[in-house]
Amino acid sequence: MSRVPTLEATYEAPPNIALVKYWGVRDRARAIPYNSSISVTLDRLRSRTCVRFDPSLATDRVTLNGETATGGPRESVVRFLDRVRMLAHVTYGADVQSENNFPTASGLASSASGFAALAGAATAALDLKLSGRELSKLARFGSGSAARSVFGGFVEWRAGVLPDGSDCYARPLFGPGYWPALVDLVLVVKAAPVKTVRSEDAMQTTVATSPTFAHRLAELPRRTRKMRAAIRARDPRRLFPLIMEECDSFREVCETTRPSLDYLTTTSRALIAEVRSLNRDAGRPMAAYTHDAGAHLHVFTLLKELARVRRRLSRNPGVERTAVLHPGPGGRRVA
Ligand code: DP6
Repeated sequence: MSRVPTLEATYEAPPNIALVKYWGVRDRARAIPYNSSISVTLDRLRSRTCVRFDPSLATDRVTLNGETATGGPRESVVRFLDRVRMLAHVTYGADVQSENNFPTASGLASSASGFAALAGAATAALDLKLSGRELSKLARFGSGSAARSVFGGFVEWRAGVLPDGSDCYARPLFGPGYWPALVDLVLVVKAAPVKTVRSEDAMQTTVATSPTFAHRLAELPRRTRKMRAAIRARDPRRLFPLIMEECDSFREVCETTRPSLDYLTTTSRALIAEVRSLNRDAGRPMAAYTHDAGAHLHVFTLLKELARVRRRLSRNPGVERTAVLHPGPGGRRVA
């Protein structure tokens, strides 16, 4: 007797911050990036998504943080559901309710957590029973960085080499408890500009116009290898300079994109300078800054240095608030 699927599931997934950035799509139809990326999945923050398929629904209903989604945000959810429906060979409409426990516009990568949660909820609702790897492969079609939010701790999304994208998925490198002393001090800056162009589109402008993109791609395999080894060794003296080098490389290709992509505010830039001077004063890499396509900064440091780093950085009047996050678990089904 075949089991009747319940058609409803709820899934939670966290955001992640990239240490090696995904920036550039090699094959848009298959969602294959130019380069592999590495991230840390963050604890405490999450998207919680409930998907209920209903054969009587003619169209999808999408509610994001209590408001009915329209336009682009709704379209990307519907397109993603279409992919899931195709996998399950069904045509039902869906009711999607998704909520973040952090402000969506805070620049804390809500699309990564959002699409990882949607992938988990929609496939579970249709009883598809995907492995973590399969879920990661699917999630990347919603948002590249979502491929990594499926897993906890330190995660690598391998670009793969096969033209069909079958070896393009994320895998956990080290679990959330691997380096308990490592913390991510998030500095939310005031008056951060609201992102108007999706990263997915912005990065393709970089690929097409930045004269330094090819150079970045050429140096990435070596940096990524060194990054993996530095995390494995839990060595801040090796890891922190690499995190900043990578962030600077990402920022350079953004700034040399035409028209230029400038995600930072005066405060973000001042904070970057402050981290550099903190390290100079200490005579060693005490902290490392990074940022995604937004103005807020993530500063990695060790628990024992946190008070000093936080005091120094949060005295900048442009800082709205700070939060201390740790590597956390990946996505999971909750109902
Ligand atoms: C700079 O297309 O995955 O964060 O803009 O949030 O949809 P959204 O993200 P995505 O691009 C991520 C770009 C990045 C780097 C990264 O997370 O690897």
